[in-house]
Amino acid sequence: MSETHFGFQKVDETQKASRVRGVFDSVASKYDVMNDLMSMGLHRAWKAYTVAVANVREGDRVLDIAGGTGDLARAFAKRAGPRGTVVHTDINESMLRQGRDRLLDDGLVLPTAICDAETLPFPGDSFDLVSVAFGLRNMTHKERALAEMNRVLRPGGRLLVLEFSKIAQPLEKAYDWYSFKVLPRIGKLVAGDADSYRYLAESIRMHPGQAELKAMMKTAGFGHVDVHNLSAGMVALHVGIKC
Ligand SMILES: C[S@@+](CC[C@H](N)C(=O)[O-])C[C@H]1O[C@@H](n2cnc3c(N)ncnc32)[C@H](O)[C@@H]1O
Repeated sequence: MSETHFGFQKVDETQKASRVRGVFDSVASKYDVMNDLMSMGLHRAWKAYTVAVANVREGDRVLDIAGGTGDLARAFAKRAGPRGTVVHTDINESMLRQGRDRLLDDGLVLPTAICDAETLPFPGDSFDLVSVAFGLRNMTHKERALAEMNRVLRPGGRLLVLEFSKIAQPLEKAYDWYSFKVLPRIGKLVAGDADSYRYLAESIRMHPGQAELKAMMKTAGFGHVDVHNLSAGMVALHVGIKC
């Protein structure tokens, strides 16, 4: 049996996906309001930057992995237009349902699939762009998921990974205080769930930093990887090209 991390806890790797599912089942209905509160709206700027870098064009085929409540899928669908395809996916049905309802409210009906990023149900070379925002750190076998993302991209296609990363050293103490003292309290007050937000802070600390993730993407088959630090490295956008 192999072990992996669930936040700071060591768990058998067969248990991680169900523990992660528990977190997102618990937070799904409050996910959007909590995102705005916890990041003080910053997640909107990080996603807007990602959408600008993605530069989706009319007719593009896009796969949004761990798409949750659909922020990126919505923005991509508006750009890909009726000739394009944006597939909205997540492993968690509760999150996907929240996203599907929000997309429908915006008049968007997208192909939607419950799927695990580690075993994507799509043929190779199917997409021009694959995105995963704040999802990779929750996956049990990140290398396997990155290799799958590479497989489904066409040669020359790009993977965009938006994820929490390693913040600049002078800000570390303040960030730790906010993450471990403030975040779980907001989680308890607003979502009635301190533990899930404690997991959020811990999973961010356990996630590979900028250089390590770049190396993992290269190993997964991305010939060129650019790293864009956002908000002093609190978040990073990694852009990998399949070549
Ligand atoms: C923090 S949410 C991000 C949602 C959305 N992308 C956003 O940026 O708002 C993380 C998402 O990752 C999903 N997830 C976790 N493990 C996954 C896996 N192995 N495959 C696909 N999605 C996964 C969760 O269900 C959850 O919806």
